[in-house]
Amino acid sequence: MVPTQLLALPLLLLLLCPFPRVSAVGINYGTLGNNLPPPKKVAQLLQSTLIEKVKIYDTNPEILEAFSNTGIDLIVAVENYHVSNISRDSSTADEWFATRVLPFIPATSIVAIAVGNEYLTTDGDQLDPKELVQAIQNLHAVLVSRGLDRKIKVTTPHSMAVLASSFPPSASTFATNLMPTMTDIVGFLADTGAPFMVNAYPYFAYRDNPGKIDLEYALLGNATGVRDPKGYVYNNMLDAQIDAVRSAISALGFGNRTVEIMLSESGWPSKGDTSDHAATPEHAKTYNTRLIERAQSNKGTPMKPKDKVEVFVFALFNENKKNGGVSERNFGIFNGDGSKVYEVDLSCQFCSSGGTVGFGEKLSNAAARGPSVWCVAKPHTDDKVLQAVLDFCCGPGGVDCREIYDSGDCFQPNKLHAHASYAMNAYYQMHGRNYWNCDFKGSGLVTFSDPSYGTCRYPQQ
Ligand SMILES: *[C@@H]1O[C@H](CO)[C@@H](O)[C@H](O)[C@H]1NC(C)=O
Ligand SMILES: *[C@@H]1O[C@H](CO)[C@@H](O)[C@H](O)[C@H]1NC(C)=O
Ligand SMILES: *[C@@H]1O[C@H](CO)[C@@H](O)[C@H](O)[C@H]1NC(C)=O
Repeated sequence: MVPTQLLALPLLLLLLCPFPRVSAVGINYGTLGNNLPPPKKVAQLLQSTLIEKVKIYDTNPEILEAFSNTGIDLIVAVENYHVSNISRDSSTADEWFATRVLPFIPATSIVAIAVGNEYLTTDGDQLDPKELVQAIQNLHAVLVSRGLDRKIKVTTPHSMAVLASSFPPSASTFATNLMPTMTDIVGFLADTGAPFMVNAYPYFAYRDNPGKIDLEYALLGNATGVRDPKGYVYNNMLDAQIDAVRSAISALGFGNRTVEIMLSESGWPSKGDTSDHAATPEHAKTYNTRLIERAQSNKGTPMKPKDKVEVFVFALFNENKKNGGVSERNFGIFNGDGSKVYEVDLSCQFCSSGGTVGFGEKLSNAAARGPSVWCVAKPHTDDKVLQAVLDFCCGPGGVDCREIYDSGDCFQPNKLHAHASYAMNAYYQMHGRNYWNCDFKGSGLVTFSDPSYGTCRYPQQ
């Protein structure tokens, strides 16, 4: 007999939750300020927003703890000054991981380690490109030995300065002196399925050439367009920058072994030096609003219209202790006291707190989204597809499928759809609940109601 709630569930889901394919928006959470709220408050704030991914610049244990059981994915980082030691031997890499990251998983969903930040384009005696590559490989080996390499990816964020030139996008290549390092890094990323991270800021290009660059082009608008000799038309600079990176990667000759490009930082400051007419609250609002809309869409770039680009906005807070010009301290969407620097809509349609977001508001509601999300098979999915998904999850996917075997609590109903749903959810939970981990070639559906029934429990992370 099939429990009625199981039959009713998919129908209900279809009615209530047509599941718009909204992509996750990420944000960079830098902490170089002496007026920032405690991490616990920050985690609560973010839970009531559409932000589902947070990138930090270290392994601050207070932050890692604060984000436990929030449903928000975290990318942690090895600081540049630490790369050298981690490159030295695998035991140092293992110790780094065991002391700084391991204690917080799985309660905190750590999905990637960024090794260094703009390491190859940062001046410093200690910064040796070979050490960066070795540190990446050592950390990956640690994850493999601990069986965590599928859940946690290892990569490194680059600045646009790794390119010899970025225009025209289709002719872009990496700087000659970085070619051997980039070949190693891209090869590693292709082998391990980790993304290529790039920090790209149309703001800097516009600020330094305001007379030459159309403001709409810089502000992620729909400008008249810049034509690439290969026929691509660019209506905004960010697309051109991303495609320049794409071309540089292609030029390394990895052929069809593709590497996903992730925009690990992009943003626009609300304030700059007196001569800086680009950095205003209006421009910052326009750019970041469009960036967030873009992050939620599945839009790619002219070269790869179907490959959506994951985005981490820079940044969550204004950081009053950052070095450099005024603009460096004014990239934040929020002030240290938690008020917004300018209005940007971060409200989340699936969050129960609904609408306005700020510190001190509705914090009791904020945890509501958090952990309550599952993945099930779409109703009426073809049996062949369900079987393939089931075979994948219980095989290479690494799901423990004992509960859906003969004597398991989820064996009944003995239906392919139910078994596949169980396996898909387990896979989704164990891979960090990224929406793409519930895609299964379009046969998966994210749901906010618990599919568990009777003694059959659908696991939560
Ligand atoms: C790197 O290792 C050396 C030698 O063990 C040690 O003195 C130094 O403090 C380490 N550096 C960092 C950043 O941990
Ligand atoms: C951008 O502008 C062009 C030309 O004016 C127009 O055809 C196109 O629909 C616009 N695209 C968007 C996304 O607004
Ligand atoms: C990639 O290219 C190689 C060699 O050209 C080919 O054998 C292989 O089937 C291709 N793989 C995919 C996924 O297209």
